[in-house]
This record gives sequence, structure tokens and C-alpha cells, in this order.
Amino acid sequence: MRYATLGGGKRIRPFLVTQTAQLLGAERSHALHVGAALECIHCYSLVHDDLPAMDDDALRRGRPTVHKAFDDATAILAGDALLTFAFDILSRPECHPAEGVRIALIAALARASGIGGMAGGQMLDLEAEGRFATAAPPLHDIAGVRTLQRMKTGALLHFACLSGALLAQADHEARDSIERYGFAIGEAFQIADDLLDIEGDPAVVGKATGKDASANKATLVDLLGVPAARERLNELVALAEQALARFGSAAAGLKATARFIANRNA
Ligand code: IPE
Ligand code: IPE
Ligand code: MG
Ligand code: MG
Ligand code: MG
Repeated sequence: MRYATLGGGKRIRPFLVTQTAQLLGAERSHALHVGAALECIHCYSLVHDDLPAMDDDALRRGRPTVHKAFDDATAILAGDALLTFAFDILSRPECHPAEGVRIALIAALARASGIGGMAGGQMLDLEAEGRFATAAPPLHDIAGVRTLQRMKTGALLHFACLSGALLAQADHEARDSIERYGFAIGEAFQIADDLLDIEGDPAVVGKATGKDASANKATLVDLLGVPAARERLNELVALAEQALARFGSAAAGLKATARFIANRNA
């Protein structure tokens, strides 16, 4: 579990929790706890994503994947334990003194991680490869790919932003703006990841590249081509920035984060 969580990574999801919490006036120590819980879920999703039965990857964050450094059983159980540890963290008063806020966080993270979010999206991602004889593979069309990506990746990034609003007990309008930002950067994040699979330098991204096409992954980049995917990324950054217009210069950091997500090289 330590190997999976403490060895590198951009920490973009916890960063978003702290930035949205700060913008909306929540306490930083609360945001750090929520960020830690969310990073546990994210790291568990990577450990399982890399398993031979899923994407079968040997390199993550510039090091051997957990099942390579240890073994498959340890990777499965480390992932299971990180998933449950996340909810242990969220249940603690250090996350927020109000029980109602903690329950809202637990419910939101459960939904973002489960069948309607990350885990469900991962299943669609594998189904789209056409690997399950018993299930008709979902169509490789734009609407299908967007749903898949919104679930497998967007849901956790959306939660990162929503959690800041929940911690701050923000009003409806502020929460709505933050959520629109979260949906836009969530969609952008996976498009950028898929572009890095084609154009990235493995030494910089810290994972193998050139794998999505050979695995028949359903991606927007595959459907639209690189230039149109980049155009969509720019559109999403503009949408993310517009969503924060009401906050003025206080949201400069989050706007810069949206641009980082779209233009990152790792
Ligand atoms: C990789 O996430 C998996 C996706 C959802 C695309 P990150 O790019 O955030 O990975 P780390 O945490 O920085 O290693
Ligand atoms: C991963 O998508 C999404 C997760 C929920 C882990 P990818 O399979 O494209 O992520 P990488 O490229 O292995 O990091
Ligand atoms: Mg995957
Ligand atoms: Mg993968
Ligand atoms: Mg990828």
C-alpha cells in the first residue's frame, strides 16, 4: 500500500481538493484528509488497472507496477485495502466536525468510485476492447467513449472539486460552478492521457506508451484523430475557465490547473 501511494504521481486530485476548498473557504486540514482519501482510491484504481487481467502494465510512475514489484495477490489485496481505507479516513472527525458533511463526502466518493463511476467505467473500457465473448462490445462512438471516460476518470476528478464545495458547505450557485469545472477538467484529463499514450515520452510519463491502439481501447483520440482531440481539449479548458468566471482572480490557480491538465507532458 505504501509502494502504491507514496512513490511519485502528480497528486492532481488532492491538489484540486485543496484548491477548491481554499476558493470556497473550507479548512485546509479538512481538505488534506479528503485529498488523502481520494488519492487512496486513485492509487488503488491504478494498481488494479495495471494487473495482467486488466491493462497488463509493467511500469507505473517510473517504477515496476505493484504486481511486478510484489505479486498479483498482493496487488489485488493492497488495492482492496486502499479502497476501504479511503472510507475509514472520510469517517474520521478530522475530515470535518459535522457528521452530515462526512456522510455527504462518503456517499459522493462511493458513487464516484463504484458502478456508476470509476469501476463501472473501467468495465466499459475493457468491454470496448471486445475481450468478453458474452457481452456485445459497446460501440466505439463519440457518445459511448465520452460516457466511458466520464465514468472511469471524470468521476474521481469531479469528486475532487465537489468535495471542496461539500467541505465548505457552499451555496448552490458556487457548488454548481465548481461542478461544471470538475466535469470539464475530468473529460480533459483522459483526452490528455490518451494523447500522451501516442505522443508522450515514456521516460517522462513514467509508464509505457503506444498501448491503447494495440489493445483496441476506445478513445476520443482514436475516433477524432490527434488534431481534433486537441481542439476538444482547448474547448474543455475554455469551458472550465468560464465555469469559474464568477470567482474572478481568486480562481486563477484553478484556471491554470485546467491548462496544466490539457497541456501536461506527464
Ligand atoms: C492516470 O492518472 C490514470 C488516469 C485516470 C488517466 P494520473 O495521470 O493522475 O496518474 P498519477 O497519479 O499522476 O501517477
Ligand atoms: C485509467 O485509464 C483509468 C483508471 C481508472 C485507472 P488508463 O488505463 O488509460 O490509465 P493509464 O494510462 O494506465 O494510467
Ligand atoms: Mg485502463
Ligand atoms: Mg492503464
Ligand atoms: Mg492511459
